Amino acid sequence: MNYDFETVRKRYNSGSFKWDEMARNGVKPSEDIIPFSVADMEFVTAPEIVEAIKSELDVSIMGYASPTSEYLETVCEWLRTRHQWNARPEWILPSHGIVDAFFTAVRTYTREGEGVILNTPVYYPMYSAIESQGRKLVDNPLINTGSRYEIDFDDLERKAADPNTKMLILCSPHNPCGRVWTRDELSRLGEICLRHGVLVVSDEIHFDLLMPGHVHTVFASISDEIANNCVVCTAPSKTFNIAGLQTSNIFIPNAELREKFLRSLMLSNPHPKCNILGYVASMAAYKHCAGWLDQAMSVVDTNRKIICGFVARELPEIKITDLEGTYLLWLDFNGLGLGFKELERINHTEARLFFDEGCMFGKAGEGFERWNIACPTRYVEEALTRLKGAYGKSSR
Ligand SMILES: Cc1ncc(COP(=O)(O)O)c(C=O)c1O
Repeated sequence: MNYDFETVRKRYNSGSFKWDEMARNGVKPSEDIIPFSVADMEFVTAPEIVEAIKSELDVSIMGYASPTSEYLETVCEWLRTRHQWNARPEWILPSHGIVDAFFTAVRTYTREGEGVILNTPVYYPMYSAIESQGRKLVDNPLINTGSRYEIDFDDLERKAADPNTKMLILCSPHNPCGRVWTRDELSRLGEICLRHGVLVVSDEIHFDLLMPGHVHTVFASISDEIANNCVVCTAPSKTFNIAGLQTSNIFIPNAELREKFLRSLMLSNPHPKCNILGYVASMAAYKHCAGWLDQAMSVVDTNRKIICGFVARELPEIKITDLEGTYLLWLDFNGLGLGFKELERINHTEARLFFDEGCMFGKAGEGFERWNIACPTRYVEEALTRLKGAYGKSSR
């Protein structure tokens, strides 16, 4: 079946965080452009998901919901077939979101003042999970080799060896750097953390969003020892563009760690629960929408190629990091010699484009832009024309 990746539902004034934020920054409906910022897709929902929700509405009352065994089995089946990981249903704790989950993990497994490692630049709420809860950020900056980012393992070993360091929050695949960590890299990181008693919280929300030739390794699948020393956060939300339904699946293979997590959740809510339609949509997605996902990622791949080709030809001062996973392209505008404030001004007021500014992801992101390319190709082409108008040699 061929799905629709052309229709855009313009989400101005409809409560879409991404569209509202663009409008607040002065880019108006009349400009006929879409935001390229927050990580949800500008693709309409797969019809199988829409149908499943409609059918549920026909038969169900919207009461409190628990995950059914069919739900838990379906999630595990996805992990088995798509990611070759034999997870058990009892390892899953459903959660509203992965941000909630890593905030809870920090609170549960570390104490105030203890250190939590991040590979920076990285998804900005990870900084908040550490700092707003009185923990100490331990920075293990990624090494930018020009076209890709790598983990500085020597620095990681030194920082993990500090007895005050208790946790590492891993972003895998990495947002915003687009890396899909290899099994070898993850094993090395896992071994370092095991050696020094550092628990790994692996945020794998982007795990299904892979460019051709790249394979995601679920962190817990590496070995039993590593599985016992981690929390793996997954969700169908990015994969199938259903983030608004707020359903994610946190896998904790180690029973003691799982129990601790649950007890900690129950301190603020004695009956943690998720959205009934979120369960329904997730099940429909995992059972019936693999084909939709493959087609969506093929549009993302086309967009990536068009952008990379155009930028190399027309805007060679802008460097693009190889995209291995996610639909978030990481572009380095520093070669233009503009400060990041000026960059923001030009993007908004001259190019009339709205990306996520790199500095949101940490200091190393200054002068970068994160471009969400999960959208119809015609919008990417329009954005490139606008970029050329604003930054091309003839105009600047
Ligand atoms: C790495 C990463 N983790 C978590 C999230 C958000 O997760 P949730 O909506 O489940 O809280 C995002 C969204 O962009 C993300 O990129």
